Amino acid sequence: MAKKTPAGWTRKHLLGLEDLEAGEIRHLLDAAEKFLPYAKGARPARALAGKPPVPPGPLANRTVLNLFCEDSTRTRTSFTLAAERLGARVVEFQAATSSLKKNESLLDTARNIEAMGLDAIVIRHSDRGAPHAVAEAVQCSVLNAGDDAHEHPTQALLDFLAIRHKLGRLEGLTVAIVGDIRHSRVARSNLYGLAKMGSRVIFVGPPPFLEGLGDIAAPVETSTDLDAILPDCDAVMMLRVQFERHERNVPPGGVALDLEDYKRAYQLTAKRLARAKRGAIVLHPGPINRGLEITDQVADGPQSAILHQVTCGVAVRMAALSLCIGALDRERKIARPHPAQGLIQSDGAPLTPPLSHKGRGRQKRGLSREGRGRGKSSAGA
Ligand code: NCD
Repeated sequence: MAKKTPAGWTRKHLLGLEDLEAGEIRHLLDAAEKFLPYAKGARPARALAGKPPVPPGPLANRTVLNLFCEDSTRTRTSFTLAAERLGARVVEFQAATSSLKKNESLLDTARNIEAMGLDAIVIRHSDRGAPHAVAEAVQCSVLNAGDDAHEHPTQALLDFLAIRHKLGRLEGLTVAIVGDIRHSRVARSNLYGLAKMGSRVIFVGPPPFLEGLGDIAAPVETSTDLDAILPDCDAVMMLRVQFERHERNVPPGGVALDLEDYKRAYQLTAKRLARAKRGAIVLHPGPINRGLEITDQVADGPQSAILHQVTCGVAVRMAALSLCIGALDRERKIARPHPAQGLIQSDGAPLTPPLSHKGRGRQKRGLSREGRGRGKSSAGA
């Protein structure tokens, strides 16, 4: 059973799913659900009907920095589109041509760009814990877009949204995560989150890919036999073999793996998928290596939810950005209370705060908040 916790969102950072409560995950998924119509670029009906321009999005005049220090296609694009569809301006940091190349530290880079005014930093980095270190160093929100083989929270959340859509729930499901678990931040974040939402997760792969899981702070169920566990599975998530991470590993020279043996035992073929539960769905975080972990027939077949995952990604990131920046706003308000806040006049009445810009405008035009309607109707006559 999923742990019941009070719903709500109070965090200004999204660094991982290890720390989140089930209630927070549910809250974010529910918020993402509302953004889904915009995830494919749909515009509000009034704009399509040629009516006056839509009001600026909830993140209008906000600035989001995409600080990607590792390659990315889906995650970077998805964060950019999510922020822009909420009305924010996005600055795309170019790691390859930045002062990181001149040995500036990541934290100095982040602090310097924040000094120009930022609301959120979306960071991907090859060092475990880099987003957490940046979050300590800056005041704005920080969202982890993947750190080493540690966490990739928004990927897991978009996986949950796609599963919930296709299967109607997360509770009581069995999800196999298959392949290069050892090097996968996606597997780790999925395990943390799915376990909290009441799903059973089985990590499946050859022994070298099931080693090095000692860092995971949750019970881990593993299997080396994909064919044996498939009949239990409601969802099968295939992972890419992350060759680029193997070099860094012991034994020196990387993980010993015969690709033909690997394909024979773990490639998701149509025949193999037929062993899974009726209506089982296929997931993959991308990028896909067709013909290695998955066949074309399965990747493009009727049970594949792979492109739906990508669509869900924009909605999840819209939710994550707006919830985190919302929490940041509340923190900023508390940190910098209104100058008049808390002041008491000599007669004991609280001092009225000075008017906001909007209020001043109304005052100049001789309009009180209540009088605005009247002014509007006469002007519009
Ligand atoms: C994954 C990642 O970068 O961790 N992809 C993604 O973000 N969509 C998985 C991978 O690179 O294989």
